[in-house]
Amino acid sequence: MNAPLSVPVSIPDAAKVAAIAPELSGAERELLFERAKQLLIEQDAVLVAHYYTDPELQILADETGGHVADSLDMARFGNEHEASTIVVCGVRFMGETAKILNPEKRVLVPEMEANCSLDLGCPPVLFTQFCDQHPDRTVVVYANTSAAVKARADWMVTSGIALDIVKSLKDRGEKILWAPDRFLGAYIQRMTGADMLMWQGSCIVHEQFKADGLKKLKAKHPRAAVLVHPESPPGVIDQANVVSSTTGLIQAVRNMDNDTFIVATDRGIFHKMKQQAPNKTLLEAPTAGDGATCESCAHCPWMAMNGLRNLVEVLENGNNEILIEESIRQRAVVPVKRMLEFAAKKKKEIVGDA
Ligand code: 13P
Ligand code: SF4
Repeated sequence: MNAPLSVPVSIPDAAKVAAIAPELSGAERELLFERAKQLLIEQDAVLVAHYYTDPELQILADETGGHVADSLDMARFGNEHEASTIVVCGVRFMGETAKILNPEKRVLVPEMEANCSLDLGCPPVLFTQFCDQHPDRTVVVYANTSAAVKARADWMVTSGIALDIVKSLKDRGEKILWAPDRFLGAYIQRMTGADMLMWQGSCIVHEQFKADGLKKLKAKHPRAAVLVHPESPPGVIDQANVVSSTTGLIQAVRNMDNDTFIVATDRGIFHKMKQQAPNKTLLEAPTAGDGATCESCAHCPWMAMNGLRNLVEVLENGNNEILIEESIRQRAVVPVKRMLEFAAKKKKEIVGDA
């Protein structure tokens, strides 16, 4: 019997998110911000944050020698930094990737329940069955998966490097089994022409961007450039001027001549975009078209579970440490390192060509 290709995911509601990472008063924020700074030094810890997290966390990471980045760069940075503790503000797979690469380091996350619909929708047992049914295919998984799923893969990719890696596999004549994001997979398949068999997961934030609503917004702002994360549906990607990882979208705002941008990704990214291009106008791509309901409203509920309060708590009590069974880690590190080595080689080629 064939395994189902994705399972339903329960999405935390606003009340749950607010209970985990509540709104803070100005005074409390200031106090916690300073306390976190002090604890990071005391604990020999470095803070790595994703662009979708609370601006306060991004500012803290920037001010304390940490890093704010996309998933590819978060993995790279944590791997190269000498601190003995890495605190990952993002979602679970980002913490797990840091631990897979740095078994000797302590990896902490503010909230263990901060997960991702792609990870949750791709349980290891079902995924393994899927792989077993297609032994002739090279298994390529997106970073947004559990350590156990990575342990079954030949390659891990992030949105920043997926196209290049799949292209090179296709050039080697390999057929691909892809998981879990069907929209990113479909985009890569279209761009590379690779033979890809796909898991049917999706990101609950990006899948809600609406092609019709975007068309209308574009008509109102004809000079705006449309920036789209490739986890979005094909009808949205088709209208993009730039399709890229979060880092690529931020670079586009900085480098393109347009003064207005329509952005189809989590609105947490606006903090960095505004910082890097303060004079540009940023508009959210619509998530609620005619008659549609807006569940995520372009903000990931799991990313929103990271806050100053739970960050300080984990630094104080050492709770929420990411631990991975060693046999799984040893297998999962292979596809992750393959990706990092591929990315390093590509970077060298770009520098060499310049
Ligand atoms: P990036 O690697 O492009 O930052 O994407 C991560 C992610 O979870 C997007 O939803
Ligand atoms: Fe996962 Fe989507 Fe949240 Fe990114 S935005 S962590 S893909 S649910």
